[in-house]
Amino acid sequence: MPHLKADPFDTSVISQHIYEGSPIRFRALPIDHDESELIGVHYGGEDFLLLLKKTPDAYMLKYEKISRPLDTNLLKRAIDDVAKRLELQVHASNLTQHEKRPKIASAYEKPIAFFEDLKDFGFPKVAVEVGFGSGRHLLYQAKRHPDTLFIGLEIHTPSAQQVLKQIALQGIENIWVVNYDARLFLEMLPSNLLERIYVHFPVPWDKKPHRRVIGKAFVNEALRTLKKEGVLELRTDSENYFRYALETFSALNRTRFTVRKNADIEVVSKYEARWRRMEKNIYDIHLFCEEESEAKEKIGEFNFDIVKYEKGIEARLPKAAQRFDDLFFHIERIYRIENEEAVLVRLSLGSCDRPEHKYLYLGKRDAGFFPNDPVKSRSNYEAYQRLLAMLNERR
Ligand SMILES: C[S@@+](CC[C@H](N)C(=O)[O-])C[C@H]1O[C@@H](n2cnc3c(N)ncnc32)[C@H](O)[C@@H]1O
Repeated sequence: MPHLKADPFDTSVISQHIYEGSPIRFRALPIDHDESELIGVHYGGEDFLLLLKKTPDAYMLKYEKISRPLDTNLLKRAIDDVAKRLELQVHASNLTQHEKRPKIASAYEKPIAFFEDLKDFGFPKVAVEVGFGSGRHLLYQAKRHPDTLFIGLEIHTPSAQQVLKQIALQGIENIWVVNYDARLFLEMLPSNLLERIYVHFPVPWDKKPHRRVIGKAFVNEALRTLKKEGVLELRTDSENYFRYALETFSALNRTRFTVRKNADIEVVSKYEARWRRMEKNIYDIHLFCEEESEAKEKIGEFNFDIVKYEKGIEARLPKAAQRFDDLFFHIERIYRIENEEAVLVRLSLGSCDRPEHKYLYLGKRDAGFFPNDPVKSRSNYEAYQRLLAMLNERR
């Protein structure tokens, strides 16, 4: 990842480079003993942070991962530009620009924010596939059911890109690909929308069960977003996962499900083909949604108008994670913004199983998440409300 190493220098010079038109916008200094500092930049139309890590022999200038822009070449140019302005004595760097691999600019790839208030999906039926991997099942179903929109979720970017390529090659028009965590995604959808949710061969996560896709919160969201008589379809080769899912579904106490062993389905995915060669057992559980759900509650804006920076607020913020049932917020680090009455707070918040990491800018005149808001999910919104109440209390 882009970075450079330079001789140690007097970092107070950074503030001399903050003026109208400069990409350097602010300098943020940690209020604890940590030596590294942050540089706020505006470059190529994006706001993000660079991290200056100090060791006795060398200072490393690199990207800060929470706020990083997606375009690596933009990041490289920004680091290079800042280093030149500060006249750093660079002795190692990896800032050579590489021709971007042609990105598949596709109308079928949808960012998570696209779903925030979406009500019209443009098809009479909608289904979701979680973790589609090579996409064999997703592509097959989409071709077989042209009246259904298939929304495929995949956290592994190369797999998402491969399937987008196939969509273009095969001229398919009823798949949307979302390169995002499926557990958060369902929270974005309206209630009573889906015909089916496919979860085929999810990662078993035997040692880290909290990372599993199937969990209480996911199943509740699945039942809310499924139509009455809609089905959540789990197919797995892992006996452990099968038993765990059975327990999770049984604990709901209000659903009907069916179980099958070694049943054939119309299309064999890449994983399934491998397990079949090894003669492993394959388990299916179909969970039926038996009732209509209430409409999704409207999620408000992340607005910090009622809180502003007040002298000494940094000392009044809790250092320990604040937990509220299944959600939390945790102030991890606080930076003072030089020459401004403002702080920059690094925090994590949201659901305990799938937290988001953000910065919060708290100034005298305005305040808000930096560089952009978290996903508008219920758990993020509730965590934000708790955070706002705490900030208001401790002014
Ligand atoms: C074992 S593979 C199975 C792929 C495919 N369903 C098949 O049967 O060949 C599991 C897939 O789920 C994806 N995945 C894991 N956790 C996910 C999550 N929370 N959201 C979306 N995709 C996820 C992984 O990247 C991986 O591609």
